[in-house]
Amino acid sequence: MDTPPLPLGTQPLSNQVGGHAFGRGKTKLGMLEKDGVVLKPLQTPPRGERELNFYKEAFSCEQKWALDLRPLLPTFQGEWHTDQHPDVTYCALENITQRFRFPCILDAKVGAMTSDPLATPEKIRREKAKCRWKAKTGFSLIGLKVFNPTNSEWKTVNSHYLRHIDESEILSQGLNIFFNRNHANFNPRIVEIFIEKIKRIQLWFEEQRKFAFYSSSILFVYDAAILLNSADAAADCSQFADARMIDFAHVFPSGERDENYITGLEGLVQYFRKVIDL
Ligand SMILES: Nc1ncnc2c1ncn2[C@@H]1O[C@H](COP(=O)(O)OP(=O)(O)OP(=O)(O)O)[C@@H](O)[C@H]1O
Ligand SMILES: [Mg+2]
Repeated sequence: MDTPPLPLGTQPLSNQVGGHAFGRGKTKLGMLEKDGVVLKPLQTPPRGERELNFYKEAFSCEQKWALDLRPLLPTFQGEWHTDQHPDVTYCALENITQRFRFPCILDAKVGAMTSDPLATPEKIRREKAKCRWKAKTGFSLIGLKVFNPTNSEWKTVNSHYLRHIDESEILSQGLNIFFNRNHANFNPRIVEIFIEKIKRIQLWFEEQRKFAFYSSSILFVYDAAILLNSADAAADCSQFADARMIDFAHVFPSGERDENYITGLEGLVQYFRKVIDL
């Protein structure tokens, strides 16, 4: 299958670290961007509709669960269509990397159980095989992109590499690289801000009994500009970092505490603390 034409005014999403990329995969449709908005094509049914409906409900419902959840997600900007792919619906989302000069990005998938209740035994087996240590940590790393302030080079680490690292390498091959841990201007405050964000997400999960999340991620983004300039580092660091929940193609109705997701949040906090405590 040839790559479909790029819809007018769009380009492949430039700061993408995981997931289906434009021009690759079975459908060749992937994430796009247009005027600072991320366009995510709906995946094959029922996954795409599930994600779109989740965003629609979260951004229209006036109940407490939805009001509390909204700030934890990229702002949903409705559906988007183009004449060039009339049969494709896109989910339009705030691009959370947009406001940063040197956006360093980590996609961490939360929960050891990444296959949903409808998964076939074969799918369950494939999901388990994707990461050997996620059963222990409660999370896995999908991809990262980082700016090195010393040589001004970008480094990306993709899911194929991260899938094969050992649990003992989560810091050396993953988190320490993402946080520029070995750089002279490493800023532990960025890690602390992310821990605070995770705790905020956890508060929401402690209250809600409505959904179970499988294969959903948190996208962590910070601006490496803070490592370049000591005046920035001394200033309010919170404007240099952001973290939001993304990827809701496998969110299911529930009635219980989401142990799988909450255990993953606890695992992430533990590992982020290790970055600071080294
Ligand atoms: N709102 C956003 N702002 C900025 N970047 C985003 C946003 N949403 C997604 N991305 C980027 O796109 C990537 C893929 O997103 P997402 O996980 O939603 O897609 P997917 O195709 O469903 O992935 P998967 O293969 O995990 O199902 C993320 O890893 C991230 O780099
Ligand atoms: Mg994803």
